[in-house]
Amino acid sequence: MRKYYEKYIDNLEQVQKLLESRPDRGMSSDRMIAEIRDNAGRRHQICCENDRLLAEILFERDPESMNRQEADDLIEFADRLFLKDGSLDTGIAHYIHRLLLAYARQTGDSDLYIRELYQAGVTLLHVKPIVLHGEVRNPFRDQITAYFEEGASYLDQYDEIANEQTRAFVLRCCEKRDEKEYLYVFPKERRRWWEDEDVTSEREAFEKYVLRGILTYHPPTYVHSQMVAWIGEMLCRRMAETMPEKLAGTMGLSDAEAVLREKERLCRCVYEGGLCHDLGKSRVLNYIGLYGRRLLDEEFACVKLHTVLGYSLLKGAGYEHLAQIALHHHQWADLKGGYPYPCDPCPEDCRMLVDIVAVADSIDAATDNIGRSYASAKTFGELAEELREGAGSRYREDVVRLFDDGDFFEEMERKLTPRRQRIYCKVYGMAGNGDFDGEYAGDSGEEEEAAG
Ligand SMILES: [Fe+2]
Ligand SMILES: [Fe+2]
Repeated sequence: MRKYYEKYIDNLEQVQKLLESRPDRGMSSDRMIAEIRDNAGRRHQICCENDRLLAEILFERDPESMNRQEADDLIEFADRLFLKDGSLDTGIAHYIHRLLLAYARQTGDSDLYIRELYQAGVTLLHVKPIVLHGEVRNPFRDQITAYFEEGASYLDQYDEIANEQTRAFVLRCCEKRDEKEYLYVFPKERRRWWEDEDVTSEREAFEKYVLRGILTYHPPTYVHSQMVAWIGEMLCRRMAETMPEKLAGTMGLSDAEAVLREKERLCRCVYEGGLCHDLGKSRVLNYIGLYGRRLLDEEFACVKLHTVLGYSLLKGAGYEHLAQIALHHHQWADLKGGYPYPCDPCPEDCRMLVDIVAVADSIDAATDNIGRSYASAKTFGELAEELREGAGSRYREDVVRLFDDGDFFEEMERKLTPRRQRIYCKVYGMAGNGDFDGEYAGDSGEEEEAAG
């Protein structure tokens, strides 16, 4: 079993190295794209291997059939995964401690049980705080408190505990239980301006914040946001030009004529909505930055919070429509699926904007064959088929129907990949210095044919 643990750790370290590597600045765009793609492919491979490993060594583990040697090996494995500064994998460490807790309960090993109460609490504590307006909130606060309280309850029997280490764990549980705030656990180096300041309500400065923030923190999300903005704008423009009546009622525009008149304002809003739709991810970077394995259920639940977190950021900055887009972009058009759930319905005057961004989001997420390491990409044709199948339920039919027009379909298909390649090159060629502004195409955005 130990060699599998070693393999898992080795894989995590490899993924970390791959994530840190950046293409050389002087590289040709073709080479750069090939390198980014190769890097993502290798990460994907490692991730699949780790998922298989975890299934075998952990997820199918039954505490009832475990022996002491196996438990000791797991303790060692968890200790390697969890370090207070720079843990390799806190989520899996916590999972192991829960397993050990069940094992200790079942074998009646109270020393191990008390140790594991502390470890289960402390790993959860370090896992994944979420930051909103400078405040750190741990979504698992209740569970953490429960672990420490149970550990601290052994204080009553303190004198009967013979094992020195176990006594120390009881005291540590008491200490943690009495701490009111869990602020200190947020690693200092991750706390930059993004966590420390509220966004400004001044529009230009805010855009810089948004773009720079996403770019600095997570280049793949930055590329994705740029793509969703661009695709969304194309969809909105097409809709405004070919069926303006469908946009009537949006942003206070009463009829088709008003839509045509205010077309640019609508397109601009969808463009900005695309840029900001995943803004909340800047608050859950601990999770979206995990690439060495599939997310655990509770981790995925935290990623889903990006909708609510993005809403709160944008609403706080005074961007009502953008806030609605961030909040609702994962909800199905018929409101029968997606998240957040439950949730108030989107106000009618931005419903169509949300539905356009939702389709743009799916188009980019599903067809990115360059930097997405966690799924194999589809062709635009395959994706369009899926959109049609989901029209009327997951996707708004009016938006999907835009692709019934062969010319528009062909235009999107032709431009999608070169556009994405350009953005990847630009972002990965300069990731880190954060001065890449948005590129709102406006009326004359017809320039992207070349890949470089
Ligand atoms: Fe999203
Ligand atoms: Fe997205």
